[in-house]
Amino acid sequence: MSKLSHAQWSSRLTFILAATGSAVGLGNIWKFPYMVGDSGGAAFVLVYLLCIALIGLPILIAEWLIGRRGQKNPINTMAELAEQSGHNRAWVLVGVSGVLGAFLILSFYSVIGGWSLSYTLSSVTGAFSGQDAEGVNALFNSLLASPGILLLWHSAFMLLVIGIVARGVTKGLEGAVRTLMPALGVLLLVLVGYGIASGYFGETLAFMFNPDLGALSGGVVLAAMGQAFFTLSLGMGIMMAYGSYLGEDVNLLATARTVIILDTLVALVSGLAIFPIVFANGLDAGEGPGLIFVTLPLAFGNMTGGTILGLMFFLLLTFAALTSAISLLEPVVEFVEERTPLSRGGATLVAGIATWALGIAALLSFNVWSEVSIVGLSIFDFLDTLTSKFLLPLTGLAAIVFVAWCLDRQSVRQELALGSTGEMLWNATARYIAPIGVIIVFIGSL
Ligand code: PHE
Ligand code: NA
Repeated sequence: MSKLSHAQWSSRLTFILAATGSAVGLGNIWKFPYMVGDSGGAAFVLVYLLCIALIGLPILIAEWLIGRRGQKNPINTMAELAEQSGHNRAWVLVGVSGVLGAFLILSFYSVIGGWSLSYTLSSVTGAFSGQDAEGVNALFNSLLASPGILLLWHSAFMLLVIGIVARGVTKGLEGAVRTLMPALGVLLLVLVGYGIASGYFGETLAFMFNPDLGALSGGVVLAAMGQAFFTLSLGMGIMMAYGSYLGEDVNLLATARTVIILDTLVALVSGLAIFPIVFANGLDAGEGPGLIFVTLPLAFGNMTGGTILGLMFFLLLTFAALTSAISLLEPVVEFVEERTPLSRGGATLVAGIATWALGIAALLSFNVWSEVSIVGLSIFDFLDTLTSKFLLPLTGLAAIVFVAWCLDRQSVRQELALGSTGEMLWNATARYIAPIGVIIVFIGSL
C-alpha cells in the first residue's frame, strides 16, 4: 500500500532538524577527517567543498523536490512522477538503488557506531587517562582484533536502531537533535581549543586549507565526490522520503543551504580538532578509519576533565550516529513492509537482522577475514567503496537528471520559487554543471 497522503512537518525548523539529524553523523566526525588524512589534505578538502556546492546542493534540492511532488516513498514517487510526465518506468530504479544503498551503508555504519559505543564505555572506565600514542594505538588494535567484542558493540548499536525504528518514534528525535547537536558542536570546539593550545594549529590550517594541487588524482577526486554524497545522505532516497513531508511553503534553496552549511561546519571543525593531535603526537594522518579513535583518546586522556568530556563526546557521537542510522534503516523497513504481509514491527526486525548480518561480515574483515578480498578490497572497504563512490553518485545523478530534464518545467519552477537570475543559475547547474561534473569525475577516475 502506498501512503496517499501523509502528515507534513509542522514547521521548517522541524524539517531542518530531521534532515540535519540524518546528515550530521559519523560521516562528518569519523569519515571526513580520515579521508582528508588519507588523501593528502587540502586538495581533497577543496574538491570536497566544490562537490558540496556544485553537485551536493542541487542534488539535495532535486531530491526534496521529487519527494514533495510525489508525496510517497521514493519508489512509488518515482513510478508516479515518471508516468505523469510520460517517461519510462525504469526511473523507479532510482528508488530501488536507494534502498539497496541504505542497506549496504547501514551494515558497516553500525560497526563504527559500535566503536563509538565501545569508546563511550572506555571513557568511563578511565582507559584513556595518561595514555600515550602507543597506548591508544594498542587499545584500538585490540578492539579491532576481537571479533567477539566488535560483534557485541555492533549488535548493541543495531539493537538501539531497531528498537527506535520499530516503535516508530523517529519523529520524536528532533527535540533531542535540537539540544544534543549543539552540545556536540561545543565539545568539538573545546577540542579545537585544545589543539590550538598544543601549538600545532598553524600546521593543521596549512594541511587542510593550503592545497597542493599536484596531490590531486582521479582517485582523490572520486573519493571527495563520494564523501560529498555520503555526508549529505544523498543518492539513497532518504532526502526524497523526507521531501514528501515537506510543506509547500518551505523554500527549498534556503533550507538546503542551511542543512549543508551545518553539515560542512561539523566536518571542517572535526578536522580542525583532530589534526593538531595528530601532528603534536607524531601520529600518521593517513591512519585510515581508526584516526579519531587513536587521536581523541590522547586528548581526553591528558586534559583536565578529560574523563567526563570524553564520555560526553562519545555519547554525543553515538547519538549523532544513531539519528543517521535510523534514517538509513527507515527506507529498508518501508520497502519490506510494502512488499510483504509483515507488520511494521516484523518488517523492522527482518530489515534490521539482515543489515546486522551483513555488518558481521564487515567487522570480521578487520580480523579473521582480513585476507578476504573483493576486487582487491576488504569487505569493509568494498561496502564503503561500492556505495560512496558508485551507488550514491549514480543514483543522485539520476535524480537530478530527472528533475532537470524530465519533470514538467512549469512545476519545477513552481517548486523552486526562484527569481529569474536564480532560475538561470539553477538551470545551468542542474542541467549541466552537476550532471556533467559527476560524469567527468567518473571518467577521470578510470
Ligand atoms: N550522512 C550521514 C553521515 O554523514 C551518513 C548517512 C549516509 C546517513 C547516507 C544516511 C544516508 O554520517
Ligand atoms: Na554528514
